[in-house]
Amino acid sequence: MSQTNPQPPKKSWEDQEVTRRDMAIIVGAVVVALVLVSGVLLILLNPPRGTEPAAERPAESATGVAVAPQATPAAAVEAAAPVAATATPDDGFNPADYPALVVLPPVSAPADNPITDEKVELGKLLYFDPRFSGSGSISCNSCHPAGDGTWAVGSPMSFGYPGTTHWRKSQTLYNVAYYTKLNWDGSATSIERQNDGAWQGTIAGNVDVAMVEERLAQVPEYVARFKRVFGTDFPLYSDALKAVATFQRTLNSRNVPFDRYLQGETNAISAEAKRGYELFTGKARCIACHNGPLLSDNSFHNTGVPTPAEWATNPLRQITVRWQFWSRGANQETYNTAKNDHGLALVTGNPDDLGKFRTPSLREVCYHPPYMHNGELATLEDVVAFYNQGGGNGIGQRDPLIQPLNLSAEEQRDLVAFLQSLCGDKIIIQAPQLPAYGVIQP
Ligand code: HEC
Ligand code: HEC
Repeated sequence: MSQTNPQPPKKSWEDQEVTRRDMAIIVGAVVVALVLVSGVLLILLNPPRGTEPAAERPAESATGVAVAPQATPAAAVEAAAPVAATATPDDGFNPADYPALVVLPPVSAPADNPITDEKVELGKLLYFDPRFSGSGSISCNSCHPAGDGTWAVGSPMSFGYPGTTHWRKSQTLYNVAYYTKLNWDGSATSIERQNDGAWQGTIAGNVDVAMVEERLAQVPEYVARFKRVFGTDFPLYSDALKAVATFQRTLNSRNVPFDRYLQGETNAISAEAKRGYELFTGKARCIACHNGPLLSDNSFHNTGVPTPAEWATNPLRQITVRWQFWSRGANQETYNTAKNDHGLALVTGNPDDLGKFRTPSLREVCYHPPYMHNGELATLEDVVAFYNQGGGNGIGQRDPLIQPLNLSAEEQRDLVAFLQSLCGDKIIIQAPQLPAYGVIQP
């Protein structure tokens, strides 16, 4: 005998005796439910700012060091996600929700690497020394030139270690000490770790640690300097990282007109720049991401920067792109199909992070065009026009805060004038005389 579950008898609507009062209660409940559902929808479509999860244990990619393939698929498959157009100009953006623009606090250093004058001097020598590249031909200074005060290569994407090209714009080193995540995708968590990737990375320094320690040991002046600073008999690579990071902790903004304005010097910036400041913190919404002393929230956003056309046609660039995905442990499908820089998703493996990049500081921004992670925008005028049109159509989901701004030509000029007021005295350092080899007997 088969068992059947007894079903409760169905009552039809007509079976009910519906009084006027019941009807009123039902209508009321429906209205309340509708309000609740639309509220939840609004929250889903406009998530609160600054909730992006930080990369938990970021791969040490830096300027291209190979990382061990990860057990989980490390990169997301490119989704043809529609561009978000959910927010309206009246979407609750409130400038007061974001940290105000203020002057930079004094620089801080890790507890195990305090800043001393002798360490800065040593780090400066190492910064310029090409013996830290496999071929002995390029140094940090090659890709972050100090002599012209840009501290970043001026081509849209950087060149790479001899025989390779890079796939991203060289970043400026002004104020790097203030970032909590380094590189466009935030893959390094300290300057020391970033620099390790820069020296050892296949498309940057491509040097072997044991080899570089042997080279340093045959430079009498380095042996003496490392002993004075770190107390070792022979220079260690790990101490070289500490010294070169310390040098970078001194490359901070100096005598910035906007800072002087903030400190009460009312004529330090022009009338245009003052109007631009108003726009930046109001109608143009820039402060939503470019905020605090660094004018960066140290977080990640998708502004829709498109992929350079050159990627499809330049074989060397193709090699780098495919190598990046392979060496970072992308799964087979991603490796086969990826055509764009996945940004933060390369580090987290989360498809929601596709096309997100770390918000760059805008301090000293006028000194290092072109702009964005791949140098797609040539000038500050282009960048402002890009935001005015509501960003671009790159991969992934564009941040809902990036909306057409309806700025007049004059307002756009004012914004550029404000960006220019963020540029202080250029830091220019000429290449020092490097200490020579001299055979040291063990
Ligand atoms: C072959 C060119 C090249 C060399 C050599 C090189 N870099 Fe870079 N550097 C880059 C590029 C390109 C980026 C952006 C990397 C990325 O996002 O993947 C970068 C990023 C950085 C960053 C991160 C900045 C930020 O805003 O997050 C720092 C710091 C840095 N480099 C310092 C150095 C130092 C110090 C050296 C020498 C030890 C060095 N670089 C060597 C090209 C280079
Ligand atoms: C939703 C966050 C967000 C908002 C709002 C925003 N930015 Fe950005 N900005 C970014 C990110 C992220 C990048 C890097 C994008 C990339 O490289 O793909 C960037 C890059 C830039 C750059 C290039 C800097 C460089 O070193 O290459 C400039 C200049 C800039 N923004 C200015 C502005 C201005 C002006 C506004 C307001 C009109 C604004 N931003 C609004 C997040 C934002």
